[in-house]
Amino acid sequence: MVMMKRPSAWPLMALGLVMALLHLLKCPNVAAMDPVQELEWQVEYMTVDTLGVEQRVIGINGQFPGPQLQTTTNTIISLNVHNGLDEPFLLTWNGIQQRKNPWQDGVLGTNCPILPGQSWTYKFRAKDQIGSFSYFPSTNLHRTAGGFGSIRVDPRSTIASPFSPPDDDFAVLIGDWYQADHKVLQAMLDNGSTLPAPDAVLINGRLGATFTVEKGKTYRFRISNIGSSQTLNFRIEGHQLLLVETEGSYVESTYHDSLDVHLGQSYSVLVTMDQNDRDYYVVASTRFASPVLNGIGVLHYADSTSAVSGDLPPAPADPDFSLNQARSITWNLTTNAARPNPQGSYHYGNITITNSVKFSNSAPTLSGKQRFAINNVSHFVPDTPLKLADYYHIPNVFTSVPLHLTQEPTLAVSVLEGPFRAFVEVIFQNDEPTIQSWHTDGYSFWVVGFGSGEWNETARLTYNLRNAVSRSTTQVYPSAWTAVLMSLDNPGLWNIRSAEVQRQYLGQELYLRVVTPPGVSWKRREHAPPVNLLLCGQAKTLQVNAASPSPGEAP
Ligand SMILES: *[C@@H]1O[C@H](CO)[C@@H](O)[C@H](O)[C@H]1NC(C)=O
Ligand SMILES: *[C@@H]1O[C@H](CO)[C@@H](O)[C@H](O)[C@H]1NC(C)=O
Ligand SMILES: *[C@@H]1O[C@H](CO)[C@@H](O)[C@H](O)[C@H]1NC(C)=O
Ligand SMILES: *[C@@H]1O[C@H](CO)[C@@H](O)[C@H](O)[C@H]1NC(C)=O
Ligand SMILES: *[C@@H]1O[C@H](CO)[C@@H](O)[C@H](O)[C@H]1NC(C)=O
Repeated sequence: MVMMKRPSAWPLMALGLVMALLHLLKCPNVAAMDPVQELEWQVEYMTVDTLGVEQRVIGINGQFPGPQLQTTTNTIISLNVHNGLDEPFLLTWNGIQQRKNPWQDGVLGTNCPILPGQSWTYKFRAKDQIGSFSYFPSTNLHRTAGGFGSIRVDPRSTIASPFSPPDDDFAVLIGDWYQADHKVLQAMLDNGSTLPAPDAVLINGRLGATFTVEKGKTYRFRISNIGSSQTLNFRIEGHQLLLVETEGSYVESTYHDSLDVHLGQSYSVLVTMDQNDRDYYVVASTRFASPVLNGIGVLHYADSTSAVSGDLPPAPADPDFSLNQARSITWNLTTNAARPNPQGSYHYGNITITNSVKFSNSAPTLSGKQRFAINNVSHFVPDTPLKLADYYHIPNVFTSVPLHLTQEPTLAVSVLEGPFRAFVEVIFQNDEPTIQSWHTDGYSFWVVGFGSGEWNETARLTYNLRNAVSRSTTQVYPSAWTAVLMSLDNPGLWNIRSAEVQRQYLGQELYLRVVTPPGVSWKRREHAPPVNLLLCGQAKTLQVNAASPSPGEAP
């Protein structure tokens, strides 16, 4: 009898395995093991006194700045955003790569905006990512009014960090700030002018933000520059900042008196409370601009009885401070990050560069109005999101061009073809006298070199091909270049933009279209659109079920 049972059980088990496999194949986007985190965010105007008078800001769940999005690697985030504003709205997740899933990126090239009074549920995860990032509105000039916050991605419990867990963790959002309403600022840009200098620098949305600490303890400060136009120098009087993490990469830890945080960038520093019980200044001050604006907060030792007084700790005086600091930030090759293998097991410096492209920023006047451009193309946002036009084959929305282009200043929809799995060298060339900050959605890149003047091929000899940091936002100094390497392994349509609000709004952005060729395994392909896909523009009238999607999409 025993002998009879066993042969009949085996085929059944094998069938079960095949069925499970088939199920997995049919649902490539669903990993049954990953937990789901459900969040409900109400976006509404609030009135806040930031600079001595009441002003309208954008709050989330009654908070300004918005709540920290705290998650864990690979956890599925189901985040319902209710737009309680009087204008269309989207949030974007600056630094979250949305692997194979541009549908959740929350920029106007990939998503229809959430209309006033409507809700939409984002569903995404920080796939194989850890670290510190930020989110902010991508629509209109909403970012100048708030709606921003910190993103904290914790590693899974089985993955070790390169340093002992800190006693606590602070989100520190620093940014320049306008007293003027965001609609007034937008009208200036729509009118062909530029924004005036900001009025102040805020830390966590106010003057005088206080961080209460205990003597002897060590804290992690996650600093993100969520401002509109200014590089900021961050420092804490009397305390050293131990830099440990940069937008999802662990770096070789180094002590700093202060840190230059460019627009859109995020850093984690560890700070040990090793001074006498009193209060200390926390400062974020403008760089590369005059007059200098100081955002001032307070580090308050719990047993302190003396308030801050006297001069602020000085900003670095050395004109080369910022560049030297940028060059000193290097990848820790031996530590793991989100995955068990060390960061340095990816030998990016050994990969052959397949494509090289230069992105030059400029500030042309077009039809009498101030615009900003990349390689002389000033991007304008069509009313049909590019991603929808592409997927549903809606003609006349955009024509993509290869990675090289040079022309006279033009207003156009700017989409570049990025060959799937190309290993691309991008040179951000800045011939303007102002500092730039560039961000890529969908990817991080290795920042292999900074140099002055015009980039040429001999610059390649100076690249850091060993331990350059991998991040998603980099500064480019005035009349200088920054070179980065990136691997186009993430199919989708990805926004590359100036992190400066007015430059992005007035056209210094483009989209990189990365399509998997036929025959590529579903594991590497882009996800199908979500079931709750919003339709707008020319896509609004589509019978989505009947429409034929592009070939080669995942089921
Ligand atoms: C790099 O990572 C390793 C492994 O986690 C860690 O022990 C080491 O302290 C780190 N090095 C630096 C310079 O931060
Ligand atoms: C826009 O420009 C017009 C004409 O130059 C001017 O009258 C108006 O005040 C401007 N509006 C703003 C908000 O700058
Ligand atoms: C290239 O790979 C080899 C091992 O295969 C390694 O020894 C070397 O350091 C790598 N070079 C770079 C620049 O990563
Ligand atoms: C942009 O246009 C200007 C003016 O025609 C020209 O001098 C410049 O070379 C162009 N730049 C690029 C990157 O095409
Ligand atoms: C390349 O740039 C370097 C540094 O600016 C410069 O010294 C060199 O002359 C340039 N080489 C060529 C071929 O233009």
